[in-house]
Amino acid sequence: MPPDIHAPAATPFPIKSVRDRFPAIARAAPFIYFDNAGGAQAPQTVLDAVARQLLDSNVQRGARYAMSMAVDEMIAGARSKVACLVGADDPDEVAFGMNATSFIRLVSLALGQTLSPPRDEIIVTDMDHHANISTWQELTKTGAKIRWWRMREDKALHVEDLVKVLSDRTRLVAFTATSHAMGTRVDVAAAATAAHAAGADAFVDCVHFAPHGLIDVKAWGCDYLVCSGYKAFAPHMGFLWGKRAALERLPTFREEFIPDAPPHKIEAGTLVFENVAGMAAAVGYFESLGVDVAPLETSPRGRIVAALGAIEDYERTLSRAMLSVLSDAGARIHGVANANLAHTRVPTFCFSLPGVTPADAAQTMADADIGIRDGHMYAPRLMERLGLPLETGAIRASLLHYNTLEEVARFGEVLGALIR
Ligand SMILES: Cc1ncc(COP(=O)(O)O)c(C=O)c1O
Repeated sequence: MPPDIHAPAATPFPIKSVRDRFPAIARAAPFIYFDNAGGAQAPQTVLDAVARQLLDSNVQRGARYAMSMAVDEMIAGARSKVACLVGADDPDEVAFGMNATSFIRLVSLALGQTLSPPRDEIIVTDMDHHANISTWQELTKTGAKIRWWRMREDKALHVEDLVKVLSDRTRLVAFTATSHAMGTRVDVAAAATAAHAAGADAFVDCVHFAPHGLIDVKAWGCDYLVCSGYKAFAPHMGFLWGKRAALERLPTFREEFIPDAPPHKIEAGTLVFENVAGMAAAVGYFESLGVDVAPLETSPRGRIVAALGAIEDYERTLSRAMLSVLSDAGARIHGVANANLAHTRVPTFCFSLPGVTPADAAQTMADADIGIRDGHMYAPRLMERLGLPLETGAIRASLLHYNTLEEVARFGEVLGALIR
């Protein structure tokens, strides 16, 4: 029997209070945000932190007056918050910057200088965002060799397949924690363990996973991890976490007066301070949700763990409901389609509709005040694997924990009308 989309979530989730914290939701109503994989909305606390930064200390860091020292303190505080979010002990392992792509480039350019045979192979996947593929492929110009960890027909990456590609030639494995196009989760810990067993580093693209689940760099054992703040309730910015020893070894470009130590050797020029302040507040948002769902939890990390546990539970309910309406509409779901496997995905759905182009489907949804996306999702390799033309691609509806079952039902109505 298909899951009842009106059934209550297994764990009560404070959806009303969550939605109340995101002013953009009420401002845009009745618009439905189902394009969250392109960027999430920001809670009021993040907006306040950005405004506060611009109002109270919009000056350069590093001087002796109070306002400038406040900027230094804000950045240090933000590093600690993000370290807590990813489960790291050392705030200096966190670097802030423009976005995830620029950090992938920074690490690949640096690592490229250290590659030499026989350890000159980089493993990439055919499920990743192109930023985490093409950037590594670029290194072939200076002698690197690319090996592929390919997804299986079940639209998942299996670590057994990675093990077959790993060897004593592998320098690094670059892979996503979760497919931004299809929502499939990857066993990051097992992949990092396999990479290390072969003497290679593990580079994790956590951009899509970050708003959906708990990041734990210690449990995962990865060496590098990138995130985009704007996918995780912060403003447009990105951050890189790396093991201190790995970052220390990276030969990054820096002016001679910049210390050859993380985080400064990883950060180029002046940060967008207000966005860094917003990122810290986004971590605070997870903590505040943790207070709601686990009032007895007192540690910041414990609250983040509780919040993301509740988010994962709630999002599974959304996933099951989406799978139900998509299968009712006869959609070809590219990704995990079995509701019993909802725990192996996040509520990001890539699909095609018989007889309807992705562009027409997205336009019809837009006309009905539902924001979704059509196209190649910046994943040309994946489109090729799925047998979809790059020009038209697929349809993607991507939900976050501020979405509701009522919104899924409305999406289902428009979908139903579309295929009739
Ligand atoms: C999984 C994934 N990786 C990398 C990126 C690139 O991130 P950014 O826009 O921060 O450079 C995106 C953006 O959509 C993404 O979804």
